[in-house]
Amino acid sequence: MKILMVSAEAVPYAKTGGLADMVSALALSLHRAGHDVRIVMPRYYAIDRSALRLLPEPMGVPVGSLGEQWTAVYATELPGSARANGGGLPVYFIDHEQSFGREGVYGSPAESDFHDNPARFSVLCNGAFQLCRKLGWFPDVIHAHDWSAALAPVLLKFVERRQGFGGTASVFTIHNLGYQGNYSKDYFPVLGLGWEHFFASGFEDWDRINFLKAGLCSADALTTVSPTYAAEIQSGEHGFRMDGVLRSRSGDLYGILNGVDTEIWNPAKDKRLARTYTARTLAAGKALNKRALQQRMGLPEDASVPLIGMVTRLTDQKGVAEVFAPTFGCAYRLCSQIALQFAVLGAGERWCQDEIRQLESKLPNFRAYLGYDDGLSHQIEAGSDFFLMPSRYEPCGLNQMYSLLYGTLPIVRRTGGLADTVQNYDDKTGGGTGFMFDYLSPQSVFDTVCWAVYAWSHRPDHIAHMRKRAMQQEFGWSVAAARYADVYEAALKKLTR
Ligand code: ADP
Ligand code: GLC
Repeated sequence: MKILMVSAEAVPYAKTGGLADMVSALALSLHRAGHDVRIVMPRYYAIDRSALRLLPEPMGVPVGSLGEQWTAVYATELPGSARANGGGLPVYFIDHEQSFGREGVYGSPAESDFHDNPARFSVLCNGAFQLCRKLGWFPDVIHAHDWSAALAPVLLKFVERRQGFGGTASVFTIHNLGYQGNYSKDYFPVLGLGWEHFFASGFEDWDRINFLKAGLCSADALTTVSPTYAAEIQSGEHGFRMDGVLRSRSGDLYGILNGVDTEIWNPAKDKRLARTYTARTLAAGKALNKRALQQRMGLPEDASVPLIGMVTRLTDQKGVAEVFAPTFGCAYRLCSQIALQFAVLGAGERWCQDEIRQLESKLPNFRAYLGYDDGLSHQIEAGSDFFLMPSRYEPCGLNQMYSLLYGTLPIVRRTGGLADTVQNYDDKTGGGTGFMFDYLSPQSVFDTVCWAVYAWSHRPDHIAHMRKRAMQQEFGWSVAAARYADVYEAALKKLTR
């Protein structure tokens, strides 16, 4: 099949969260299975043009009321995708200075959500169709990811099917229902749809525009990134006001658990670690990585206390208020009452960063790095004993899977992909791969961390077995990629019906 991925993010070019990992890893896996997969994304300011190939001729993109915009298209091949007979996976970058020639994917410190995002992502989505025309390559499936690419299936359904894309089906993947792309309807004309489509496309949401809703209403098939999340989002509690729309499309909605790119996340060959290790050399390997992490974070080098790690966007979705908020968050109590250490890597909301700085100044056993650091994220996964991820909701979550593969036991809330990937500890049999709680509160995070620390001190035999079991979990992409291929087939079948 010919598949075009449309996304605002893809590793190694632009990443704000797991979306970027997922898009590249899925594309690569489908490519390896023999499909003709290509990715299109913006050429952000931070993506170095000199490492890319410029395609001949500028490309005109109709951007609704903004008229035709002139763009350049750059291309490269996704690392690790070269086949023996040549032919790596092409990644195309749409270069439009006015839209993408600035720092930031969706926003910047000065403007958290760029006011012209409707126009920026209209350039991406309209540009995706122009790109296909330019290449003379018409995909069987356009696979759009999250609200920023949601316009693509809408344009396909209402405009492009009559303009050469009659055989193309669309699949829209929800990575996070919490981000919907809500803007004043004054921006509607830049999307390239007539006003007659304002309601029919699903864009209308309380007299504003909602990109995600339009994608949900218009795509031929919908997917999300875990089976539990697929069920949860059809309920009022997790549906972010979209539960009704999602229930109406439940027959077209598939929950497919993300995999892990084990070329990148593999403790046996991870060059960022002080020492690589396998399930057989786990005890010694983890001890060494723990010491290296303590050194790097400025924590006392002490093997006798458990080390709790966190790598997270500092945003409400991740349960950070329950951990770090002043007065009620549980981190202070945990660090001052229990013999443990805390290592945090995170970037995000200002209040949370400030609180983390406060905790650091008060607690010798709490250390944080505020910012984005890929190497450190691997070192925390390897050097911690436990990985805390108390998400309020979690569509899939990649970090808990990385933790498991690194023999670091996750402490998680039983929700979304966390519920699908972690098995709760059974203190009678020693079974399980992590520690879980249901109701999110500072007290339940506190209690569950204490439960894990208790097992660490009193049942080292259980912990050792759990770690081994965790490292043996299978999170390869091949199963998930095959399921996506099935969804593509199902979407294509709808076209011919
Ligand atoms: P989400 O996409 O909701 O943030 P995921 O668990 O799916 O959650 O993916 C998060 C990804 O981003 C992981 O690859 C994680 O290692 C990475 N990450 C998050 N915060 C940081 C940070 N501050 N530094 C480095 N990597 C980070
Ligand atoms: C989103 C979700 C996360 C998921 C990731 C990749 O960022 O918050 O749970 O793992 O997308 O699908």
